[in-house]
Amino acid sequence: MVSLISPSLPFLFLLILHQSSSFSTVDVSADSDIIIETCNRCASSDPNVNYTLCVASLESVPKARQSDLQGLAVVAVRLAKSNMTRAKSKAKNLLKAKSLDPYMESCLETCRELYSNSIADLEDSVKAIKSSRYGDANILISSAVDVPRTCEDGFDEEGLQSPLSEENDELFGLTVIALAITSLLG
Ligand SMILES: *[C@@H]1O[C@H](CO)[C@@H](O)[C@H](O)[C@H]1NC(C)=O
Ligand SMILES: *[C@@H]1O[C@H](CO)[C@@H](O)[C@H](O)[C@H]1NC(C)=O
Repeated sequence: MVSLISPSLPFLFLLILHQSSSFSTVDVSADSDIIIETCNRCASSDPNVNYTLCVASLESVPKARQSDLQGLAVVAVRLAKSNMTRAKSKAKNLLKAKSLDPYMESCLETCRELYSNSIADLEDSVKAIKSSRYGDANILISSAVDVPRTCEDGFDEEGLQSPLSEENDELFGLTVIALAITSLLG
């Protein structure tokens, strides 16, 4: 085995030398590319990650460019959390309608609770990421990823048109990105 590997070692070493030197000369503004690089890695590791949404949502946060991977995971979780908060407000508003169909009401109430619990989970996951408890963060974000589907399933089962489908699509997109980035942390 060893004799098979060793002839290629000098070549490998040259390759590494070449790559690291081209990195330092060509890629001067390395930190401005952390978003692109991270979204690329996420999209290739998880087919549910929408690369365009990943880049656009992270670039909408000015400090994301200066972040390291851990900081970027926090940014992504906070984007998902703020979207979860919006979805919760929408569910609350829909629940205010007069003479709401009781099935519709119960589905909306379920979604509102799911969103509410998920906001708390995502907040806890920020703390977990910041203290390098990535396994815990992963579990918390994973349950947030399931929320939009579970909410939609409620309407489907009653044969109702979901009034939250747009929000749930966005939520799925953003939570999946948060999970993929957090998974890169180990
Ligand atoms: C990915 O996200 C972009 C930006 O939000 C959106 O326009 C596009 O439709 C999404 N693509 C898929 C396949 O969902
Ligand atoms: C969050 O949701 C709102 C509406 O539900 C949407 O307009 C907005 O683009 C979403 N934010 C992100 C970062 O995708």
